[in-house]
Amino acid sequence: MIQFDFTGQRVLVVGGTSGINRGIARAFAEQGAHVAVVSRSEEKVQDTLAELSQYGTEVAGFTADVRDYPALAEGVKELAEAWGSLHLVVSGAAGNFPALGAQMSPNAFAAVVNIDLLGTYHVMRAVYPYLHRPGACVLNISAPQAQVPMIAQAHVCAAKAGVEMLTRSLACEWGSEGLRVNAIIPGPIADTEGMARLAPTPELMAACAQSVPMGRLGTAQDIANACLMLASPLAGFITGAIVPVDGGWLQGGAAHVASHFGSLIKAK
Ligand code: NAP
Ligand code: COA
Repeated sequence: MIQFDFTGQRVLVVGGTSGINRGIARAFAEQGAHVAVVSRSEEKVQDTLAELSQYGTEVAGFTADVRDYPALAEGVKELAEAWGSLHLVVSGAAGNFPALGAQMSPNAFAAVVNIDLLGTYHVMRAVYPYLHRPGACVLNISAPQAQVPMIAQAHVCAAKAGVEMLTRSLACEWGSEGLRVNAIIPGPIADTEGMARLAPTPELMAACAQSVPMGRLGTAQDIANACLMLASPLAGFITGAIVPVDGGWLQGGAAHVASHFGSLIKAK
């Protein structure tokens, strides 16, 4: 594996206690970074810290719902006061469930927008004073739904499209301070809650894998590798970029297979 040197760098992964984001947190700890995670569940935070502490760097964590700005901002402030400025912030907390646009409740639509889009804004707002200048990097986790309309995903499509424009806007605002703001679009990733919800049958999961030009689902390590690259000095002139890490899924397969995501609820 390519070695990056993040020794002593301070990394915060929001939503870093499971799935893709936990894989990102693990990868940075493996490469020498001090890693902090935040999510709603104290149990998940503690479980993650127990794993991350194996790598011998400093670890920290706190609980907050990204929809609760005061709680999130207080946790970030306490972390930064204890650790110092942050070199990398990954914002990946999200919620998803398949539901048709005209059938979900307004509160269901709002729940996803409030976690994915407003929550990402809250993270950006909370961490901004504590980003290491110059040189800090922010990575927002988007989704193919930001670019491809999908049945039963109107709430996620709208929220993640907002995440991408927030990313590009803040890249423009913060570039002069030596801060980079980018987003990653994971393709369909194996063994994740997100895919379990969207493709709940083995047949649909297999169709997803087949629709990826590279012929497989991605792994959390695929996404972590891209984060290592984008956070490294190799990417020092990359900002405002929306980077698919999806085996080519956005080139066509996503639009094709996503038409089936709502099939189970439409059949009910
Ligand atoms: P996951 O395992 O469900 O991870 C979600 C994480 O966010 C958990 O740590 C969860 O912990 C936290 N979280 C959820 N709601 C939160 C809230 N309101 N406040 C704070 N933390 C919250 O999901 P995943 O499937 O790995 O997806 C991770 C990211 O990748 C998401 O941004 C998703 O949109 C994106 N993505 C996933 C895929 C895929 O194939 N899975 C594809 C494209 C994009 P708590 O429950 O403790 O809060
Ligand atoms: N279909 C339709 N509506 C749904 C739904 C579903 N499958 N699941 C939840 N909702 C609705 C609820 O009914 C509620 O609306 P209402 O008040 O009008 O009844 C609204 O969404 C909020 O639900 P609630 O359970 O109160 O939200 P929460 O804040 O506790 O949880 C979720 C947020 C719903 C997004 C939850 O699924 C979650 O925590 N997800 C995190 C994990 C995840 O989604 N991982 C994949 C990431 S890609």
